[in-house]
Amino acid sequence: MPAMKALILSGGTGTRLRPLTYTSAKQLLPVANRPIVAYAIESLVSCGLTDIGIVVGDTADEVRTALGDGSQFHCRFTYIHQEKPLGLAHAVKTAQPFLGDAPFCMFLGDNLLRHGVGDLVERFRDNAPEAAILLAEVPNPGQFGVAVVERGQVVRLVEKPRDPISPYALVGAYCFTSAIHPIINALSPSWRNEYEITDAIQGLIDNGRRVDASFVDGWWKDTGRPDDLLDANRLVLEELQSRVAGSADAASVVTGRVELGDGAVVTDSVIRGPVSIADNARISHSYIGPYTSIGPDAVLDHVEIENSVVMAEATIANLSRRIADSLIGRQAHIHGEDRRPSTFRVVLGDRSEVHWVP
Ligand code: DAU
Repeated sequence: MPAMKALILSGGTGTRLRPLTYTSAKQLLPVANRPIVAYAIESLVSCGLTDIGIVVGDTADEVRTALGDGSQFHCRFTYIHQEKPLGLAHAVKTAQPFLGDAPFCMFLGDNLLRHGVGDLVERFRDNAPEAAILLAEVPNPGQFGVAVVERGQVVRLVEKPRDPISPYALVGAYCFTSAIHPIINALSPSWRNEYEITDAIQGLIDNGRRVDASFVDGWWKDTGRPDDLLDANRLVLEELQSRVAGSADAASVVTGRVELGDGAVVTDSVIRGPVSIADNARISHSYIGPYTSIGPDAVLDHVEIENSVVMAEATIANLSRRIADSLIGRQAHIHGEDRRPSTFRVVLGDRSEVHWVP
């Protein structure tokens, strides 16, 4: 059998993350200051899967610029252009010339798994089913593909079910043999006009092929919505290792696990980890509370912020209220005057501006 390959899906539109995704691919949005998709790549590489196809769409140039040829991840990328985001099965179909007869692990580029795909790939290699899927119990199954499991076997799969037929969502990582291709090639579009990988897996079952399912170990996040991005940031920062390359002056207090990137400068501020501050960010007269990521070249002056993501080159100054639970896009500017402490909540897109007078 040919060596196993990997396929990362990094096309699609990211409509639910607008305005952040007006100017950025959703798979490149930062979680603890690294693009979401970087976590998928690292997990695949750590399983020995180094021949990786990346399906790209409208944001192809940005994805290529950010990820390169794979050498920074010790693997090789083949970019595959999908003309239109016609569904996950359509993305696989587009990748068929790259995949050939090889078995492959498919990872959705906006999904984050605490323990990666190591167990999934190992089980697939050991047990040799035609497909191996991962499931997780969720409170909102209508937003996912779901699997009905009877006596440990998957008997039925439905994409975004209108009736709550199962609480078990399909997690965005799958392993397939080449048996999936003829089924995909014969697939019809779903009610939402997409070629669904969920229907293709159902096709394997209908043809008497073995589909193994297991429950995901550790947390899993589909970062499709703003709150998911904040959750993912918090979950990843939970395991942050301290690393101080930048500098904090004597008037600053830095406690807990903090990552301070190259050239980052902290002046007269309190940083309470877990916090990630990227290269060349400048923080002065501010409080950065737990579960916050500050992007490269961001500038914060007289600001209190916690449980938030500030992206590259954003500038925030002189706020009278504490920022909490917020996503602040690249080059966004927030400037205030009064300094009484209180809280507000925003989701700001790239290049947004907010000004207020007390
Ligand atoms: O997150 C898990 C869920 O992912 C599963 O439970 C569902 O069964 C599965 O269909 C998928 O649902 P989503 O609606 O969340 O998929 P989304 O459109 O967000 O696309 C997932 C990734 O694939 C994302 O990184 C964009 C990329 N993509 C998507 C489409 C539709 C492509 O590269 N090409 C496409 O045509």
